Amino acid sequence: MKSLGNIRRSFAPWTDPAAKPFISVNNVTKRFGDFTAVDDLSLNIYHREFFALLGASGCGKSTLLRMLAGFEQPTAGEIVLDGTDLAGTPPYKRPVNMMFQSYALFPHMTVEKNIAFGLRQDGMTKDEIGERVLQMLKMVKLEKFAARKPNQLSGGQRQRVALARSLAKRPKVLLLDEPLGALDKKLREETQFELMDLQQNLGLTFVVVTHDQEEAMTMADRIAVMSHGKVVQVATPAEIYEAPNSRFVADFIGDVNIFDGKVTASNAGSLEIAIDSDLTIRVSGAEPLPVGSAAGFAIRPEKLRVSRTPPANPGINAASGELWDIAYLGDMTVFHVKLKSGAVVKASSLNAQRSVEDPFVYDQEVWVTFAEDAGVVLKD
Ligand SMILES: Nc1ncnc2c1ncn2[C@@H]1O[C@H](COP(=O)(O)OP(=O)(O)OP(=O)(O)O)[C@@H](O)[C@H]1O
Ligand SMILES: [Mg+2]
Repeated sequence: MKSLGNIRRSFAPWTDPAAKPFISVNNVTKRFGDFTAVDDLSLNIYHREFFALLGASGCGKSTLLRMLAGFEQPTAGEIVLDGTDLAGTPPYKRPVNMMFQSYALFPHMTVEKNIAFGLRQDGMTKDEIGERVLQMLKMVKLEKFAARKPNQLSGGQRQRVALARSLAKRPKVLLLDEPLGALDKKLREETQFELMDLQQNLGLTFVVVTHDQEEAMTMADRIAVMSHGKVVQVATPAEIYEAPNSRFVADFIGDVNIFDGKVTASNAGSLEIAIDSDLTIRVSGAEPLPVGSAAGFAIRPEKLRVSRTPPANPGINAASGELWDIAYLGDMTVFHVKLKSGAVVKASSLNAQRSVEDPFVYDQEVWVTFAEDAGVVLKD
């Protein structure tokens, strides 16, 4: 059997020009009065994709989901699902179900009845309903709680009931708005993997809203990073992390060091950016930029090496400074190095060895170095 990781790695319909998107959001705008919550946004989502919308509070994530579900109408633009323009299709006729940010269970109904609710409306027989509900209860591991009312459950259990209820109707697309928001860290991590398993096994398309980057990175095939009603970048978690397309994305996802300078040389895929008199950054595999233009450079802490010995080529991708702070986090150590320019950079290294001989100490003079392909150039 193929592992979940293997299946997910080989799934990349967006790289195939012939693949047809399952959901197309085309130039969709949503205004509330004179406020624009979603701004000329376009996205393609593929069948069986686990798609995450990630962005700060108020950037328009829920509004976009609500338009997909049919609870809000776009002010402009169109949403096409499986070849059909959804304009004019009411929510209950869309092959889409939504699990809300503040999932509302019916307080007077048992867990079982809550899950069965949509099925009875759909006219399934009693036996069919019974079977489906049992299957859903098993899936979310709540068989023993079938007869309880929501107020007799923990927050995490309630969340799982809401999930079971939204999946019971077997929607082709499930929209999940902060599905794990009420769970504690450990349960959250477990449930992330359950969700991924479920989505894979049922062959569904998931669109998940979250403001937790780690969660999006763990679960999603692709992530759309949103800001102020617009999509800033759509890419796989690895691409978003390793090759952010802008300062905003670099800064939003994970930890990053950003240097600003001016381009001093640009040829054959190699770019030089002068940061200050002590540091010039040489980047390989970069797009050409005009000499003299302003450019930034973003590099993750784990791509910086800290050492006590001066490098062979000081000044190029190497800067000296003093060790300002050392945070030992168990699995890794984070160093803050204050460069001669006054800038403080963050470097991290894994603590794979049990003990360190000759450890670093505060205020020590150190060198920070990095490879030519270790970071990305920021044009904005
Ligand atoms: N019905 C409405 N009337 C007016 N403004 C609205 C309405 N619904 C949403 N907004 C505004 O649109 C913007 C986007 O809201 P939305 O709920 O989509 O944000 P979000 O990205 O889901 O944020 P959060 O992470 O906090 O849930 C917000 O500024 C919000 O105040
Ligand atoms: Mg929201």
